[in-house]
Order: sequence, then C-alpha cells, then structure tokens
Amino acid sequence: MVSSQVIYAAVPISVIVAIGLLRKWKSRSWAKCLSNTCLRGKTFIITGANSGIGLETAKALVRRKARVIFACRDIAKAKQAIADIRREQPSGGELIPMQLDLSSLASIENFVEVVKAGFYKIDVLINNAGVVIPLSQDEKTKEGFEVHLGINHLGHFHLTNLLLDLLKRASPSRIVVVSSTLHEKGKIDFEDLNLRSEIENAKKRKSDARHNPGYSNSKLMNAYFVRALADRLRGTGIDVNACCPGFCYTNLFRHSIRWYHYVLMAPIFLLFMRSAKQGSETVVYCATDYSIEGNSGKFYRDCAEYESKYPFDKEVEVKLWNVSEEMIKARKPL
Ligand SMILES: NC(=O)c1ccc[n+]([C@@H]2O[C@H](COP(=O)([O-])OP(=O)(O)OC[C@H]3O[C@@H](n4cnc5c(N)ncnc54)[C@H](OP(=O)(O)O)[C@@H]3O)[C@@H](O)[C@H]2O)c1
Repeated sequence: MVSSQVIYAAVPISVIVAIGLLRKWKSRSWAKCLSNTCLRGKTFIITGANSGIGLETAKALVRRKARVIFACRDIAKAKQAIADIRREQPSGGELIPMQLDLSSLASIENFVEVVKAGFYKIDVLINNAGVVIPLSQDEKTKEGFEVHLGINHLGHFHLTNLLLDLLKRASPSRIVVVSSTLHEKGKIDFEDLNLRSEIENAKKRKSDARHNPGYSNSKLMNAYFVRALADRLRGTGIDVNACCPGFCYTNLFRHSIRWYHYVLMAPIFLLFMRSAKQGSETVVYCATDYSIEGNSGKFYRDCAEYESKYPFDKEVEVKLWNVSEEMIKARKPL
C-alpha cells in the first residue's frame, strides 16, 4: 500500500511538473530573434538598460559585439549592470554608462550634450525605460507632469527629437519604442492629459483600480508617437517602430504588486509571464533584424508585425505631437 506521506509529496510535485510542462508548451509561441549579425562598430543607446528587458537587450547586443550606451537614471546601477555583464561576457562590444533621468527635461538635454560631445552618430536608439506607479501616489516629474505621461511619453519624445541629427548621420538607422499591447486600453483626453480627475478619485478612494490608466495612456502615446515620427522621417533612412515585449517578470510592477499577489497569482504568473530575456527578443529583433529594414511606423510583437486593435485617428496623432511639443516648450503642464 502507498503510504499517505508519498501521496502528500506526489500531489505538489505533480502540480509543479504539470505547470512546468504547460509553461514549456506555452513558451513555444514566444518568438525568438534569429538574426545574429555582428554589430561591431554600431552604437546603440538603451534607456533603462540596468534592469529587466533593457538589461537583457543590452546583453544580446553586446554578444553581437555592439557598443551600448546604458542611459540610466542611477549611474551606480548602470555601472553594476555593466560589471555583471562583463563577468558573463569578458570580451566583445563596448559598454558605456551614462546618466539620464527621463523625469527631468534638463537631465535629458544634458545627456544629449554628453552624447553629442562623444559620438558623431547613433545607429539605434531604444526607448525602453518605463514606470508603472499607482495613481493614488500622485507622482510627478520635475516639471510637474503626471509621471507616466512625463517619463514614458514626453521624456522619450524630447530625447528622440534631440538625437535625430545623430541618427540621420548613421542612416540607415533605427528607433525602437518599447510600448505595450496595453496601449489598446489607453485613451487620449486632451482636456486632462495629466489625469487630474483620475488621480483625485484614486486619492479619495485611497485605492487604485487594477488597471492603471496612466500607464496604458502613455503606451498609447508611444504608439501614436511612432506613427507620427515615421511620417516625418520618410526618406531619411531612419526607421521607427513600436513593440510589445509581452507580459514579463521584471521590476516594472514593484510599486503595485504585494507579496500576497505572488502567492495568489503564482500559477498565472508561471504560465503566462515571460522572463526578461524572453521579453527582450522582439526588442532585439526590431533593433537589429535586416529583414525589416525600411519598415517604419509599425507595431511588433513576437518578432512579427502586430495588427493593433486600437482605432488610431490621424487628427489625434497630429494634435498629440503638437501638444507634446508645446508642453516641452512651456516646461510645465498646459
Ligand atoms: N514587464 C512587462 O510585462 C512589460 C510588458 C509590456 C511592456 N513593457 C515595457 O518594457 C519596458 C521595460 O520595462 P521592464 O519590464 O524591463 O521594467 P523594469 O525592470 O522596471 O525596467 C525599467 C527601466 O526603466 C528605468 N527608468 C524608470 N524611470 C526612469 C527615469 N525617470 N529615467 C530613466 N530611466 C528610468 C528603470 O530604472 P531604475 O532601475 O533606476 O528604476 C529601469 O532601468 C517599459 O517601457 C515597459 O512599459 C513591459
């Protein structure tokens, strides 16, 4: 007779094995970037390269011998990430730490000055950095923009426009904007881009809705930005595309996820969440794969073009560009 102790041990082991097998099966649909071209002599900038998807993207580029500028808000974290990569990959490529805080227009301008002083051209800019912060925390950037609008959209908008000269010199060159399929849940309300009413409601409720509108809206702005910029850059040899890395296990949700969420949601996380490395595949694909050279203004997911379900509107696209420029010029919310 099988003892009850054996049965007690067999049940959790079977569950773990079953989840492991299901995860393996599920991960077969998560595409990999197959191009392995040598990138020696090419210069990449990755914002937020010290963590998660940005870090894994940097590792993949260094493996292909690229020069990578780690544009990070905390220079100590950038240096630590570089030291960790160098332990894994002692030679090849070049890794350069630089300070960039996307929540400050002055920091962005200072970063661009330093880049311009040291580099004649930039081959690929990867706008990867991002935050998800509960609206009830009412966090603002240095100029007072709502934090998702300020960092995820306006910071990268300003950075990209200031680097266009260097990207033109490297043509054919690329800009990759790490958005999310959550852009399909976003909304652009020109009357309240800084989400004053949503923030007041969240503060009154003293709790946040599960879906963070600030984040989704900023990811929608990323997608609009790519479409508008692609139009402006036609004929320059600079491709600009957006991508979604998929739902990944990274530090992104550190402000919104508590320890008990991990316990309650563990099976879902285990089944559906990619590692940061798996998430980086589409970013690396958009940044390096020659088969998509000349494609611009598109959205990618799983190393393939993704047809967004969002009903993009040309008037909104143009207005968002103009309002973004105005906000940056005014250096304050309008
Ligand atoms: N994880 C997902 O499931 C998922 C899904 C879809 C899209 N994405 C997108 O993927 C991108 C990377 O996110 P992740 O998941 O890799 O998250 P992560 O591990 O938290 O990495 C985010 C990076 O952005 C940096 N960052 C935040 N605020 C910054 C600022 N003001 N200035 C400069 N850098 C700043 C962070 O720096 P610190 O380390 O100093 O905070 C970190 O390096 C984001 O754009 C995110 O929206 C992620």
